[in-house]
Amino acid sequence: MKNRKILLGITGGIAAYKSAHLCRLFVRDGADVRVVMSEAACEFITPLTMETLCGKPVPVKMFGRTAGPLEHIDLPDEAEIMVIAPATADYLARCAAGRACDLISSVTLAFTGPVLFAPAMNTNMWNNPATARNVLTLTEEHGWHIVQPSSGDLACGWTGPGRMAEPEEILDAARALFRRDLHGHRILVTAGPTAEDLDPVRFLSNRSTGRMGYAIAHAATRRGADVVLVSGPTALPCPTGVQRVDVRSALEMEQAVNEEVDGCDAVIMSAAVADYRPEQIMEHKIKKEQEGDSRVLQLVKNPDILAGLGARFAKKSRPVLVGFALETRNAIEAARTKLQRKGAHIIVANLAADGLGGDDTRATIIDDREKMFDTGPLTKIELAEKILDHVLEYWDRP
Ligand code: CTP
Repeated sequence: MKNRKILLGITGGIAAYKSAHLCRLFVRDGADVRVVMSEAACEFITPLTMETLCGKPVPVKMFGRTAGPLEHIDLPDEAEIMVIAPATADYLARCAAGRACDLISSVTLAFTGPVLFAPAMNTNMWNNPATARNVLTLTEEHGWHIVQPSSGDLACGWTGPGRMAEPEEILDAARALFRRDLHGHRILVTAGPTAEDLDPVRFLSNRSTGRMGYAIAHAATRRGADVVLVSGPTALPCPTGVQRVDVRSALEMEQAVNEEVDGCDAVIMSAAVADYRPEQIMEHKIKKEQEGDSRVLQLVKNPDILAGLGARFAKKSRPVLVGFALETRNAIEAARTKLQRKGAHIIVANLAADGLGGDDTRATIIDDREKMFDTGPLTKIELAEKILDHVLEYWDRP
């Protein structure tokens, strides 16, 4: 990390004593480190300790002696990444709410680059639904990267999850944020459900939230790729730097994919495309007085977008075609069949119970070169990174 500009934020938990070691590791790696501390952090470790280790003044207060008039803007402006270790429950709550009530929260709010955070707190605080919600907001909506706390003996006497990850692990995660291994590659990602209209107010759809595809688009952009995201209707904000094409139905998605695919090195089809659409879209709202006690919906098959690409590119080495197989049973078997039937290079298989709509997911990645591995339980952003790793490796393998 030679000459990389890192802003290390320390908030008020006992794990703050490990931040001194973390700072040391960054400095030893050649990084240019600035430190900002919350007032509570100073109860556990002194600014003088951190100043000595990073060689620069350590601001704490918004209006205190050390802070220049625009420190809350200058500090984030100068940094390439921000690492918060430890990140307390209260700090996470403040950031999830977008508050700027002290220097470290203001600095975080003004920072536009990648943020990595290492939570540390008591097990019950970590397990509290409010904390879980805040962590989810930060990782999925704000695109923050988490170094998960480990399970073990906590300083408060409890045993369980909540212990801050070791500094070496945080250092590795920070190094990964500087990875630009997808630079020069163009990647097309599809995400979300499709909506198949019945009439002007009703449609057929599915439970996909789009979070998986958005996580892939976000991770690929951060790793330097040029990303186009063809998205069905979702409530998610477009990740910074991603070019989004909004579509509604499977037919619109097919058209957008075919328009964008030229020059792509990979296509990652995470969208849950409706297999069927109503044969007819009624011009006016269907009225029940005009119908009997039952109504038969005539559906017609939608085109299979992935299979269409499979046929068009006929297993050329580019673009690498990645499909998903979300199943309620026999996921691996179904994935193998889909790999063949759709002419894809890679299939990410998961069970609906492990993926759809949930916070965590677990998948098996299978490719047409007989490679297969189970990812274990991961957050969506972690799975996104694994899928991209697999694509990279696929490009590199003869
Ligand atoms: N897919 C697609 N076009 C469709 C249906 C699916 O491109 N009309 C893609 C999805 O984006 C996904 C993969 O194919 O990457 C598998 O989708 P899935 O719904 O699991 O498979 P289906 O082909 O629909 O098969 P089935 O519903 O019978 O499991």
